[in-house]
Amino acid sequence: MAEARKKMTLPGLFKMVAEGKPITWLTCYDYPTAYLQEQAGIDMILVGDSLGMTMLGLDSTLPVTLEDMIRHAAAVRRGAPNAWLVGDMPYMSYQPSVETAIRNAGRFMAEAGCDAVKLEGGAEMADRVAGIARAGIPVIGHLGLTPQSASALGGFRLQGKSAAQAKKIVDDAAALQEAGAFCILLELVPDRLCRLITERAKDCIIMGLGSGPGAHGQLLIYHDAFALYPKFKPRMAKVFADAGAVIRQGLAAYVTEVTERTFPQPENWFGMPDDAYDELRAMLEGPDSADADRLPDRAQELAAVR
Ligand code: KIV
Repeated sequence: MAEARKKMTLPGLFKMVAEGKPITWLTCYDYPTAYLQEQAGIDMILVGDSLGMTMLGLDSTLPVTLEDMIRHAAAVRRGAPNAWLVGDMPYMSYQPSVETAIRNAGRFMAEAGCDAVKLEGGAEMADRVAGIARAGIPVIGHLGLTPQSASALGGFRLQGKSAAQAKKIVDDAAALQEAGAFCILLELVPDRLCRLITERAKDCIIMGLGSGPGAHGQLLIYHDAFALYPKFKPRMAKVFADAGAVIRQGLAAYVTEVTERTFPQPENWFGMPDDAYDELRAMLEGPDSADADRLPDRAQELAAVR
């Protein structure tokens, strides 16, 4: 069972900002990892559409469906009942219209138990943000490198390098705040741009991913932070523990022990009482066949107590 912990709330997040306490945020896509993140006291969890790459092995986030997202988000909620859970709206679940955006945001809340949703885009998405916020759903904007638009942005690269590009991101952040976003994620923008937007933020939490220390908190992709994504590690991510190496080591040990027949041991199996076994053999082969191939004594004893 997860350690008892207070449920994170929207006022709780704003209190952290007011008290100058950085907010911790990680992506998560499954129940056991959510359980660990909950125990670690992570403030916010994002069920990102990055699951297309990290969990499904796809080359981009674009094929991820709303059904995929809701299924994973519900599993994460079961493992992390108290973290502030954000559902990432997948490609084409909000772009077509304000109504589509509201309906699909509502599914994250009703079917997966999310606390908020996130969508990508700036001023052009302000009406979607406003509609979702008016429906009573906390909504997070996502600016800078927005993976769903990677093709239009020219790939996965730093955004807002020139003054003109940076000004557009500042304006987009203002439009999202105006529309009712309670939080904005700045992904892969220069540190000074992130700090500037954070300093200007009004009633809006600014979170950074690869954008320096100036934001109110930090987001990382779990698989990058724990060396679990085999294809590459982005420069902006720090590996906090090499879980991939630990798992590889364990897998090699498993292969060796099964191959060499040192696994399983008696404590790993369940025995059958002599009388039931003898009766079974007699049923199958006749009365003289019993007690031919019983387990060795020690194994028999261990198995009987389980
Ligand atoms: O899908 C995701 O994990 C995200 C992050 C890249 C911010 O949106």
